[in-house]
Amino acid sequence: MTATVQLARSVPKTVDAVGVPVATTGAVPRVLGLSRSALAALGFDGKPGQTFVVPMAGGPAQIAVGIGEPGAIDANGLRTAAAALVRAAGKRVTIATTLADLAPDAMKGTDAVKAAQAVTEGALLAGYRYAGIKKEPNTSSLATFTLVVGEKRSAGARTGIERGTVTAGAAILARDLANTPPAHLTAVDMANKAVAIANESGLTVEVFNRDQLAAMGCGGIVGVNKGSVEPPRMVRLTYTPRNPVGHLALVGKGVMFDSGGLSLKPSDSMLTMKMDMSGAAAVLATMGTLKALKCKSKVTAYLMCTDNMPSGSAVKMGDVLTFRNGKTSEINNTDAEGRLILADGLSLAVEDGPDAIVDIATLTGACMVALGRKLAGVVGNDQPFVDKVRAAATATDENVWQLPLEKAYRKQLDSHVADMKNSGGAHAGAITAALFLSEFVGDVPWAHLDIAGPMDVDADDGWLSKGATGFGTRLLIDLALGFAK
Ligand code: BES
Ligand code: MN
Ligand code: ZN
Repeated sequence: MTATVQLARSVPKTVDAVGVPVATTGAVPRVLGLSRSALAALGFDGKPGQTFVVPMAGGPAQIAVGIGEPGAIDANGLRTAAAALVRAAGKRVTIATTLADLAPDAMKGTDAVKAAQAVTEGALLAGYRYAGIKKEPNTSSLATFTLVVGEKRSAGARTGIERGTVTAGAAILARDLANTPPAHLTAVDMANKAVAIANESGLTVEVFNRDQLAAMGCGGIVGVNKGSVEPPRMVRLTYTPRNPVGHLALVGKGVMFDSGGLSLKPSDSMLTMKMDMSGAAAVLATMGTLKALKCKSKVTAYLMCTDNMPSGSAVKMGDVLTFRNGKTSEINNTDAEGRLILADGLSLAVEDGPDAIVDIATLTGACMVALGRKLAGVVGNDQPFVDKVRAAATATDENVWQLPLEKAYRKQLDSHVADMKNSGGAHAGAITAALFLSEFVGDVPWAHLDIAGPMDVDADDGWLSKGATGFGTRLLIDLALGFAK
């Protein structure tokens, strides 16, 4: 069960812990009963993300929560601080804090709505724990998180809590989907989830099966699926507001399990490959929020869902697949499957005539080698649109770094028998993957997010909880809400 975030005018008497904001300089709130030098001696100097638990005899624990330089904290700092508070509170189930009610001039460019949204997100995301498939499911400690906000800012805070509950809820949905074992979430299951979510959240939904995909000329997803006993699904979701101000298309990689196919991965490399559908999960979770958040643009989404398995019927090295847009690819590595299914998804997205397209995919180990586990790669064909994606990443603290769409590397994909090979070899793997995708977007402004690195974390870390991160969900929501032609 996800925790509840609520609003109060003063600290409720019954809570287990109270988060007390403390800056790096200035007075230390009296409730802590500790001087600045005492806190410093204990290793707490008010830096964002720092906490110090002061146990109290007969009353809630008072937890000092670092907020950095006075007047310098922004929404990302507040999200991090709220998460640190939840982590520090440990098993305490009810927490209250004034974090979202720092004097307005203490918050850099952050109004009451944004402050409460960020604190809500930090608390709920840090409070998340995957239930697992267990006789006694894992539970998370956090039950209620109360934002104590004065009268002047309470209307804004209420809106912020509502929005943060929706955005964090979406990221949690994406985490749950990606954490789910492959036999418990097949492509068919994913499509069924999408239908349920569409019905709950005012979207239209169409589901395409193998024969329909084959008839549509989607040779990429059909080809990748050939080795699998689980059939593929492509899901098209549409959100249409009244008088849309623009049209955004989202395409998600939904490889429900990536074994590598005949180019079989080593065993250990498969351990997290149930999460190879994290892109599709982020897109589905995003779509589910658009009505609640009153998105003003039309958004169409494609979830490209299949396993990638080796078998007697699997696609072979040297085979050539023909995609929806008529282009062909020679398969020189069946483990470069993501781009093959995205090729069909991008082609279909272009046919809808959007103003811009984003794809999101756990696409390359090369991107993880280049940028590590805390940054996604972004590559695109239109700098103003890539800049919008970068701004959404900054706003949500789901950070990205741009890699170039370097045309000089296109020859690494040259093929003697088809329009291109599907793997460009050892060098610049994240870029050659993006070059492959760029063949399917025509002239439409497009950005590609490679989320292989930040797909998951090995241990709890601030608002990230062990396992799948749901990375990209809040980024895509922010992008969609700010999008206009
Ligand atoms: N799903 C993987 C990429 C991946 C690796 C995601 C690790 C998350 C963590 C993708 O399908 C893949 O196998 N990519 C290959 C491409 C290569 C064969 C050109 C890779 O990165 O090795
Ligand atoms: Mn692969
Ligand atoms: Zn993959």
